[in-house]
Amino acid sequence: MKVLFVCLGNICRSPTAHGVMLRKLKEAGLDWVEVDSAGTAAYHVGHAPDERAQQVARQYGYDLSGLRARQATEDDFFEFDHIFAMDNANYQNLQAIKPADSKAQLSMALAYSDLSIDEVPDPYYGGSDGFTQVLNICEQLCDDIIEQLIRSRS
Ligand code: 4NP
Repeated sequence: MKVLFVCLGNICRSPTAHGVMLRKLKEAGLDWVEVDSAGTAAYHVGHAPDERAQQVARQYGYDLSGLRARQATEDDFFEFDHIFAMDNANYQNLQAIKPADSKAQLSMALAYSDLSIDEVPDPYYGGSDGFTQVLNICEQLCDDIIEQLIRSRS
């Protein structure tokens, strides 16, 4: 089972979800789930996550420093089982490159969560509060996704 988180730049939201998911999968002993992240834009390809995202993640015990941004491609739709878009704009961007015979199911990430918001807000142009909010959302989201992956397997 392979899951992919996708935002715009792959330096704030999706690497945060990626790092949170890696640790939660390890803690839950879910070695049958693999996770990756990507951006729909190429601006930051090859870059480490935004320093602000790394700093907040570090405060919560997650290490994002080894992650590097890449752009989502058509191949991802055959490589992954689930592709989770962090917001509507990126859902639309992904829908536009999704092949007709895609293996992956494309969804809005927060459709998998009980949180009362639909999108993970873009923190890039805001202050550090936005990054903390993203981290909190990602923790809840990853718990909810893991619960549903376990349920769908049994
Ligand atoms: P992300 O945030 O999509 O969560 O990685 C952004 C990163 C970079 C830009 C916008 C959003 N940018 O415009 O460069």
